Amino acid sequence: MLPLTDWMLEKMDLEKSLFRSTAISSLLLFLLALFIHALLKAFHFCYQFYVNCQRLRCFPEPPRRNWLLGHLGLVVPSEEGLQKVTELVSTLSPSFVTWLGPFIPVVSLVHPDHIKPVATAPAAIAPKDKLFYGFLKPWLGDGLLLSGGQKWAQHRRILTPAFHFDILKPYMKIFNESTNIMHDEEGCHLSDEDIAAEADTFMFEGHDTTASGLSWVLYNLARHPEYQDQCREEIRNLMRGRDTEEIEWADLSQMPFTTMCIKESLRLHPPVTAVSRCCTEDVKLPNGWVIPKGITCLISIFGTHHNPAVWPEPEVYNPYRFDPKSSQNYSPLAFVPFSAGPRNCIGQNFAMSELKVALALTLLQFTVRLDKNKSVRRKPALILRTENGLWLQVEQLPSKI
Ligand code: HEM
Repeated sequence: MLPLTDWMLEKMDLEKSLFRSTAISSLLLFLLALFIHALLKAFHFCYQFYVNCQRLRCFPEPPRRNWLLGHLGLVVPSEEGLQKVTELVSTLSPSFVTWLGPFIPVVSLVHPDHIKPVATAPAAIAPKDKLFYGFLKPWLGDGLLLSGGQKWAQHRRILTPAFHFDILKPYMKIFNESTNIMHDEEGCHLSDEDIAAEADTFMFEGHDTTASGLSWVLYNLARHPEYQDQCREEIRNLMRGRDTEEIEWADLSQMPFTTMCIKESLRLHPPVTAVSRCCTEDVKLPNGWVIPKGITCLISIFGTHHNPAVWPEPEVYNPYRFDPKSSQNYSPLAFVPFSAGPRNCIGQNFAMSELKVALALTLLQFTVRLDKNKSVRRKPALILRTENGLWLQVEQLPSKI
């Protein structure tokens, strides 16, 4: 028996017996094992932390606020915060590291070359980061946006056909059609809880994002009446001679300039400003830097869209960047409002169609102008919003095509 056992029995005023001695010895051994386990874990954490610090040293880093806060509070969710991001991007592209407190590093990727290896990695290697998405879980459940592994792969397979062009075509029937398809296939695979989580996810991902996208494109066209007139002209030409002002499926590909204006607005004001991942393997970047496994990385959509190394004069609203006839060749990952790779937006064609129809019908009937009395201060919440709403003056046009 351990000498400590005798001492404890004495202290507890208990007579020595084989049973008591064995029980106390076992307890002590168990506590010792726990302690050693905790010690090894702490050692492993410190060692891993040290190794990660060394490996992350290749990434540039803005000056920390202090040793405790790290970069916490450097980028706040406000207009000033977004301006700070723009400044960091122009000085620290293609990627940089910031610290949330003394122990949590976050690698921000702000260039297509650096986004690519993470965004296009298989979903199992680049799962969603729990730090950033965890708080959405109680609200959205395990829907497509937040789920991972087998469940995500199976649900994505089941839900993808609901967004096929053939389903989007009969535009007015979209909701019925896609819901029906899901029901047919889900009958055997998805529980009520699964269906509720997917419905919540689609309401959030589908509604708020598109509403933000539409608001910003109207704002950008209000700021640039010349482009607004050009869009209206294009849509009027398309509608000429028709009895009803209704946009049909075939029209969606016949409004190139309006599409360019929508895309440029999604670049300048991406409704989703960033997505994050936590890779289960080291990820090598094209310049040789490595994101160690387990480190949170932020695919900064806003940062990439505002990176002057990617987009000349990034703050200028210029739809001609997206002119299909333009000789300028941008990387496919330079414009990623819907993210990219296996976890890209399942509803992107739906969203683009919806934006085109809503914008076209609005411009046919109204002129939009800026309200000079209201300032616009951007606010990145979950979605890119403004602090006090987006105020536009709307004037009804004579209803003649
Ligand atoms: C302008 C409108 C939209 C924008 C900017 C947008 C943007 C995005 C982005 C950036 C992601 C990737 C999220 C991540 O990696 O964490 C995403 C995913 C997703 N979006 Fe959208 N979205 C839009 C519209 C829609 C619509 C209309 C729907 C459905 C009706 C939808 C459903 C989803 C779903 C379910 C996911 C998760 C996909 C997955 O992980 O497999 N989105 N969206």
